[in-house]
Amino acid sequence: MSASPSAIQSILTENRVFPPSQEMVKAARVSGMEGYHALCAEADKDFEGFWARLAREHLVWSKPFTRTLDSSEAPFYKWFDDGELNASANCLDRHMGTPVEHKTAIIFEADDGSVTKVTYRELLDRVSQFANALKAHGIQKGDRVLVYMPMTIEGVVAMQACARLGVTHSVVFGGFSAKSLQERIVDAGAVAVITANYQMRGGKEMALKAIVDDAIAMGGCETIRNVFVYERTSSACPMTAGRDKTFAQAMAGQSTDCPPVPVNAEHPLYILYTSGSTGKPKGVQHSTGGYLLQSKMTMLWSFDIQPDDVFWCTADIGWVTGHTYVAYGPLAAGATEIVFEGIPTYPDAGRFWQMIERHKCTVFYTAPTAIRSLIKAAESNEAAHPKQSDLSSLRILGSVGEPINPEAWMWYYRNVGNEHCPIIDTYWQTETGSHMINPLPGATPLVPGSCALPLPGIYPAIVDETGNEMPDGTGGMLVYKKPWPSMIRTIWGDPERFKKTYFPEEVKGYYLAGDGAVRAKDNGYIRVTGRIDDVLNVSGHRMGTMEIESALVAKTDLVAEAAVVGRPDDLTGEAICAFVVLKRPVPVGDEAKQIAKELRDWVAKEIGPIAKPKDIRFGENLPKTRSGKIMRRLLRTLAKGEKITQDTSTLENPAILDQLSQNN
Ligand code: PRX
Repeated sequence: MSASPSAIQSILTENRVFPPSQEMVKAARVSGMEGYHALCAEADKDFEGFWARLAREHLVWSKPFTRTLDSSEAPFYKWFDDGELNASANCLDRHMGTPVEHKTAIIFEADDGSVTKVTYRELLDRVSQFANALKAHGIQKGDRVLVYMPMTIEGVVAMQACARLGVTHSVVFGGFSAKSLQERIVDAGAVAVITANYQMRGGKEMALKAIVDDAIAMGGCETIRNVFVYERTSSACPMTAGRDKTFAQAMAGQSTDCPPVPVNAEHPLYILYTSGSTGKPKGVQHSTGGYLLQSKMTMLWSFDIQPDDVFWCTADIGWVTGHTYVAYGPLAAGATEIVFEGIPTYPDAGRFWQMIERHKCTVFYTAPTAIRSLIKAAESNEAAHPKQSDLSSLRILGSVGEPINPEAWMWYYRNVGNEHCPIIDTYWQTETGSHMINPLPGATPLVPGSCALPLPGIYPAIVDETGNEMPDGTGGMLVYKKPWPSMIRTIWGDPERFKKTYFPEEVKGYYLAGDGAVRAKDNGYIRVTGRIDDVLNVSGHRMGTMEIESALVAKTDLVAEAAVVGRPDDLTGEAICAFVVLKRPVPVGDEAKQIAKELRDWVAKEIGPIAKPKDIRFGENLPKTRSGKIMRRLLRTLAKGEKITQDTSTLENPAILDQLSQNN
């Protein structure tokens, strides 16, 4: 489970309610609960008609659709599938000739604090020019291109340029290792990589291109014809003649005019790899039409984006939040957005607050982990406290990625929002593509730690293992009873896994989210209690325990067996705890420390630094049943540092528990 039992308890017993201000209700696009209920009623009455109306009103179609939802091959749902459009045209071209054309699209603040701004017109020109460069290298509709870029304007340009050509991008977070990159290149069959020579984080220059080279050198990447390198810094990096081009070389002489390629609404806009409970990360495939529609609608509903807003989503483009709420949603909505290269604690932990003041940010969207670490920093250092900055421009705050504990919620509400900004706790997933369950700023009364009510046209339910709905107030598994436009279309190259993972027969053909939830008896508010599978949520990043276990046992000279579980952590939500059996006697003292370090570094190399176990414990064996099954629930208890009170009678080797309770 994602949140600690005490955090869940405090969420479940929370009953403070914060209604929206009258001012917000009056001005908001969805005004009051009447406004929210009216939209829900429209969707209830005519589900397809509701989404069709929005798709016609909010997207520009090069060929209008006549069919809204095709369920004939469910769960492979299709939306608007006889229509054609282009995602980049809907984010950029559509604003030309309107007041948005010369409005700032992106305010980019670099790690060192320097600021660059581009208007929508300038962004369109850059995207078109880069798209022409890709085209000149033979990259075309249907190809896959891997993007391994830092948070920069060029990161967004790379994604938009792919979309412009109907090229399916797959963005890999800059913190993933060469091995992870190579696996994704192979799985996607990518023809090119778009990267940067280096990235700047916290004043440090970190190599990106060299990691791409390492990935390609691992083999299996013969599909790669080109590597495009954005020169983020002036430092040189190795370039392979014939294959590698700098952005400047590739774009030289290219026109800033590149007609967007119309694609079918179901055409895959992107593949984004995410962790599951078993096996390798899966390539979540998203569509063009349905995805874009909900990306835009949620900007308008959840964040009530208005022409003067300055929106800031702090997520990296390597995660789904950075796709929907950096690369596509804000641009589709014609908003001005902030893109930030650096980290929240550099040069000091007041960076976010100073940036909100500097750029007059009005809507700020971040993760509970960031909030918790900034609370800690503010408590120990007055200078990093939000009160040092003028945050009066803010009108709406958002939270994403993990449950927000009421204590962090209250701090965010008081110290950042000055008790007048609603906190929009958005519950969703890589697979859902956009927000699913959250309050609306001018409508929904807020309860700290609750993501409140589903968005209009979204139908969650809480069910038992057989798909039967649980009574309100009783916990169960969160499912969605109806499809939605921005839903995952399939797992790239593995439709069977898609069906088995998300639409298991036992739950009546509903979409299974993999989270536990409770719906409150009195107001129907939904509280998500965390994952019910072997997926961990570390700092809002998804990690599969099996993936980390596989990485550990791949160190064949050292590791015989490994089991990974999560344990609650005040800062990161969950921490990774590995129990390891070595091919040598159980180490103690310095030797144990040294081997633990070696294993952490190994995992960083195999997956990426974000997957490094925080705790590593060694034992002669793992607790197993007589049939050889590892008893993970016991390991979870040990990881928490608690005494085992569960029944251990089925355990083959009870003595092992004592040994594993020692932390190394
Ligand atoms: O467990 C839920 C948690 O994050 C998971 C999805 O992770 P990912 O696909 O990486 O997407 C993160 C960004 C949308 C969910 O299954 N989660 C996400 N948002 C919340 C949340 N848990 C509670 N409250 C949230 N607001």
